[in-house]
Amino acid sequence: MSKPVKHVFVCSQSRPDGHPRGSCSHKGCKEVLQTFWQELQQRNAYDRIAVTYSGCLGPCDQGANVLVYPEGVLYGHVTKEDVAEIFDSHLVDDVPVERLRVPAGSW
Ligand code: FES
Repeated sequence: MSKPVKHVFVCSQSRPDGHPRGSCSHKGCKEVLQTFWQELQQRNAYDRIAVTYSGCLGPCDQGANVLVYPEGVLYGHVTKEDVAEIFDSHLVDDVPVERLRVPAGSW
């Protein structure tokens, strides 16, 4: 396996119903992760891009959260409908999707 150019971490943290912090699992992270994996497969981009589920990334109230390295860009309130745009703009063209960035100070 070659070293990926971009590494996407999709928070997949789960917490019990009613937990004060909530969790990305209650905000569609499973669908977001599945959609990233589908895009990865369709684009056959395994040599350049890695997609990994992760534990809590911090700002749970912003979920579902997605973190992209090496830039360290954190996206919040991500839905499966946003994944193709993140892929095209950030992972392929190297232009982060500003409208989805978690505000400075939240992370
Ligand atoms: S549960 Fe996803 S960032 Fe905390």
